[in-house]
Parts: sequence; C-alpha cells; structure tokens
Amino acid sequence: MQMGKLTGKRILLIIGGGIAAYKCLDLIRRLRERGAVVSPVMTRASEEFVTPLSVSALAGEEVHRDLFDLTKEAEMGHIQLSRVADLVLVAPATADLMAKMANGHANDLATTLLMATDTPVMMAPSMNVRMWDHPATQRNLMTLQGDGVAVVGPNEGDMACGEYGPGRMAEPMEIVAAVETALADGPLHGRRILVTSGPTHEPIDPVRYIANRSSGSQGTAIANALRSLGAEVIFVTGPAEAARPTGVQIIEIETAQEMRDAVLSSLPVDAGVFAAAVADWRVASASRSKIKKTKAGLPVLEFAENPDILAEVSQMTDGRPGLVVGFAAETDDVVENATSKRVRKGCDWIVANDVSPETGIMGGSENAVVLISEDGSEAWPRMGKDAVAARLADRIAQTLGAV
Ligand code: CTP
Repeated sequence: MQMGKLTGKRILLIIGGGIAAYKCLDLIRRLRERGAVVSPVMTRASEEFVTPLSVSALAGEEVHRDLFDLTKEAEMGHIQLSRVADLVLVAPATADLMAKMANGHANDLATTLLMATDTPVMMAPSMNVRMWDHPATQRNLMTLQGDGVAVVGPNEGDMACGEYGPGRMAEPMEIVAAVETALADGPLHGRRILVTSGPTHEPIDPVRYIANRSSGSQGTAIANALRSLGAEVIFVTGPAEAARPTGVQIIEIETAQEMRDAVLSSLPVDAGVFAAAVADWRVASASRSKIKKTKAGLPVLEFAENPDILAEVSQMTDGRPGLVVGFAAETDDVVENATSKRVRKGCDWIVANDVSPETGIMGGSENAVVLISEDGSEAWPRMGKDAVAARLADRIAQTLGAV
C-alpha cells in the first residue's frame, strides 16, 4: 500500500452503468496511489462499459457483483461490506442510479449497499445533458443532497453522446480531491453543528407571504466551511435562493415555527450557528383561502410574535449547545445594538453586520462583520462571504477544541 492523504481509508466504489465508467479505472489508480483501499462494486449495466477483470486488476481486490452470492455472504455479508468503508463513492452516478438512491430501491447489490450503509456517501453524476436538466433528476438531486449525499460535478463540456452541457462526470483528480476533503480528519471531526440559514416565509393566505431579503448565501458558506473542517452539519434552511451546501444534512422549512421545531429536534449539538433571518412576526391567523378585494375596504393583518429560536436555545438549562452563535442585522449603532442583543438573547457570540442598503451586504457576495463575545468586539475587514465563513469556522474549531 502506498502512503498518502488517504492511507488507511477504505472506499467502497460503486460503478454505475454509464460511458464514464471507463474513467473509474484511472480513478481507482489515483485513489490507491494516495494510500486508499478500494473495494469495487459493479452494477450489471456497468459491465457493458468496463470489464470486472480490468476493475479488479487495478483495484487489487475482487469485484463485488452479486446480491445473492452465498460464498461471499458467508465470508462478508453485504451489510457488513457497506459498513467497513470510510466512504461509499458512486461513480458514475447515472440518472437511473440516482433515481433508485433517491427512492430507496434495493434490488441489486449496489442499491442494497447504499440503503444499508451508515457511512458517508459521495456521488459523481454522469449523464446526457437533457437527462441532467430533467426535473426528475433535479428533484432526485435535491432529495439526495437533503439526505447528506455529497456531490462532485458534473462538469460542463463535450459529451460522449455528441451534445454539450453539464452532465460530464468530474475528472478523476477532481473526485480524488473531493474524497480527500471528505475524509480529512479536520479539527471539527466528530463534532455535530447546527446551522440555520435563509429567510422564513410567513403566510398571509395560500398565495401570499411575508418574507425578507436574505439570500442564505452566508449560511450556506458557513455550513460548507464547517463541513470542510470535518464537522457533521445539520443545515436548517428557509426558502433561500442560495445553492445548498454539500455533504451536510439539509432540512427545508418555510416558517419560523417550522424552523424552531426542526432545530429542537436536531439537538443535541456541539454548536449552533443561527444565521437565518427569521421573521419576528407572523400573521396571527393566516387565511385558508385567498383574500379577495372587496368593497368593504382594505384587509387588516394582525400579527403574532414568532418564537425566538436563538434565545430559546441559548437559554436552555438542559442540553444547551456548548457554543451558541447568533447573528445581528443592524442598520444603526451596530456594535452597541449587537452587544446588548448578545446579553438579551443569552448567546455566546454575535456576528453583527451592517445591512444598511448602501453597504450592499444583504443579498450581496461580501460581508463586513463585527464578532462580539464576552471579551468585547472585534471588527473584521470587509471580505467575501466565503472568507467570513472560513474565519468563523476556524474560530469555532479553536473554541470547541479548547473545551
Ligand atoms: N433569531 C431567531 N429566531 C427569531 C428571530 C431571530 O433565532 N424569531 C435569530 C437569528 O437567526 C439571528 C438573531 O436571532 O441569529 C437575530 O436576532 P433579531 O432579534 O431578530 O435581530 P434582528 O433581525 O437584527 O432584529 P431586531 O434588531 O429587531 O432585534
């Protein structure tokens, strides 16, 4: 075995039946060069593209192909096979395989392993551009991401079928890099961190709602940054426009009350980062049917206060996360307001930012924040939201590491 970043890591490689299966031969070599042990599993369809003989020759291990193989079952059952790996890698993940994964099929060895595994799963999709763009595939992608499956690619380019667009499997070295990141024992390895993100939508009636301008991009960046330091991340998001983070568990909600329920049922966690722009009020009794214009006059909306999720979690006497980080969106006296907000809510840190329209921060790609803790305030220079996220994640890692 060669020494490298993946030394001692076992990867269960599920090869799907697509033309990109040929790239798996190189992928296996590259993974092994870095020290990984690769156990290949081939679907029936993949054998039309590469032979089990070449796969096993490169892997230096026999290929698993059959669900009902009595000899193998006696040696190592398929459940165990799915559990001994550090990562299950599906490459190429065809449209069909993605559909089966998203819907919990288990009618061959590959899909059964995917259902039985308790190890992280990563997939490298590969298919014709139309198939990739098809609403069914996009729906399956959302489901799989929500289940915590990490996705690498697909890339855009010329395809074997003669068309052009997204659908080409990521190159072996890109997949290797994603595997290395996923398996790196970062400083947050073994830590469970909750992140809330995006706006909430508070219904007025079945077609109208109250919302805010949060794009969710800072929350997504924070979840990605925590994940890349090795944390297990639970991402509770409102209907945000930003792309969802990868390799994390995603819970989609609409209202503040739903966000509260999702947060409470995700506890216990080591840390909670409350980046969501939660609506402070909801319409007290949203109408079940569409409110119509009438001659009687304008509708009057009565408001009720939403639960303050950050305050509730910060003030828990039992099961409070070790570190609670809130956000404050302010337009005036940023530090002063955020400092008193930290005390009032009872959280450990507040990441305060000035969201006056002239700053362009709300919905923009940059952020200028002040980190407020018990020790005072620290203004960070204006930087990209990814950089803010990386710095915050590092700070969280240092703090949890010292506990
Ligand atoms: N928050 C929450 N639940 C709410 C409202 C806010 O968890 N119902 C969290 C947000 O995720 C954020 C922080 O609390 O971390 C923001 O607090 P909030 O009091 O809403 O601050 P602002 O939006 O800045 O509003 P205000 O200045 O009116 O207090």
